[in-house]
Amino acid sequence: MVAILERLDPPSDRRVALRVTNDALRQLRSGHPWLFDRSITSGKTAGKAGDLAVVFDGERRFAAIGLYDPRSPIRVRILHVGRPTLIDGDWLADRLADAVDRRRSLFGTSGGIDEADGGPVEHDQAHPTTAYRLVHGENDGLPGLVVDWYSGSAVVKLYTAAWIPWLPSVVAGLSVATQRSDLREAPGVLERVVLRLGRSIAGSGPPGIADGVVLAGPTLDGPVEFFENGLPFTADLAHGHKTGHFLDQRDNRSLVGRLVGDAVGSGGGHRVLDVFSCTGGFAAHAAAAGADDLTFVDVSERALELARHHVDGAVDSRPRRSGPINGRPEVATVAGDAFDVMAHMAQAGRQFDTVVVDPPSFANRADQVDRALAAYHRSARLAARLVAPHGLLFHASCSARVTEASFLNQIQRGIADANREASVLTVTGHPVDHPIGFVHGAYLKAVALRLTP
Ligand SMILES: C[S@@+](CC[C@H](N)C(=O)[O-])C[C@H]1O[C@@H](n2cnc3c(N)ncnc32)[C@H](O)[C@@H]1O
Repeated sequence: MVAILERLDPPSDRRVALRVTNDALRQLRSGHPWLFDRSITSGKTAGKAGDLAVVFDGERRFAAIGLYDPRSPIRVRILHVGRPTLIDGDWLADRLADAVDRRRSLFGTSGGIDEADGGPVEHDQAHPTTAYRLVHGENDGLPGLVVDWYSGSAVVKLYTAAWIPWLPSVVAGLSVATQRSDLREAPGVLERVVLRLGRSIAGSGPPGIADGVVLAGPTLDGPVEFFENGLPFTADLAHGHKTGHFLDQRDNRSLVGRLVGDAVGSGGGHRVLDVFSCTGGFAAHAAAAGADDLTFVDVSERALELARHHVDGAVDSRPRRSGPINGRPEVATVAGDAFDVMAHMAQAGRQFDTVVVDPPSFANRADQVDRALAAYHRSARLAARLVAPHGLLFHASCSARVTEASFLNQIQRGIADANREASVLTVTGHPVDHPIGFVHGAYLKAVALRLTP
């Protein structure tokens, strides 16, 4: 598999020299990581994907340097702003090491260093987490590059072809960064690197570069196993959504598990509806906390299959987590459009003690925001009708262009239009491994509400 990397043309020594509008220059200097084609005033058509592009100011002085992509409206992903600097494999290795270092409190099942006081952090030995985001693109200063870690397998996801010539350096840098001896708990030995390509670049790479290929290490013979807060999960790294698992919802899944655990502790059965469930992480945490009736809704049959498997693992881990509770839960899966399914369930008078709604992004562009807000209003209205008296509604949004305030407004309006009243328990956002480094980086928001009768 390493042959794929060896066949790649290395990054060229050529630099693309660009002049840009004053407004774009201001934005780059204030930390915006994207330079759009429409902001380029000269040098627009020169360069191959992965060439380094140098942005000069009006006085012909160096202003910034980044990766050029002639096919993307985001023509340059900015790597560095300020004084001239050499961008090469060593520079990249340092950035990757910084990103890994920033997440040190997540690694392993013991050890780690507290950012605040420099003292040791004790991890929860009983509830290990072995999958997390190591590199969060723009928010870690590496725009268009995401790296997720799953118990020794790294998934490198590219959102621009500009990273392709740099892949050998990415793999080499990751291998060092994940085992640095100065980290109390490094993530561990890098056994395998899987490549995933964003939709806009899938199918456009050089020979061997395709979505789901293994760049280094053993081939994949099925989903890989990992732990999330002590629960066993699997992820299809080659074909699953994103990089195989929605790592960004880890803390929220744990929160739902705790809320369900509180309700189960106060007696009675507990029915959970996990809408847009994908591989079932939310309801699996609810199952581990003692929920006895789980219904999953997703358009993907394959994801629903894995959801059943994850519930089994979660239930098997119950005694270790929370003592013997109930028997095995009833599990139902419904493959279909979530809006239609929720409408049918409401017509049939179905009720659940906890309803989780975690839809895909409805707005990545500014002109999609109104449509996204209407979708949140509708999903909250439909979901609220399904929540039993005093039940819990957890609703998330991963639409980058929708603000937290406008999202919460639509959720409250949807609940009111279902003739229900609600009190907000908590509003949440990004976990620590998904830092927010620029304005559109804050995509995830979620709210947990208690609905009154
Ligand atoms: C953000 S992900 C959900 C992640 C999941 N809750 C978890 O914790 O892993 C969104 C999911 O919605 C599903 N989906 C997209 N459109 C859908 C639709 N119209 N109806 C049902 N499911 C849909 C996708 O297959 C995907 O699994």
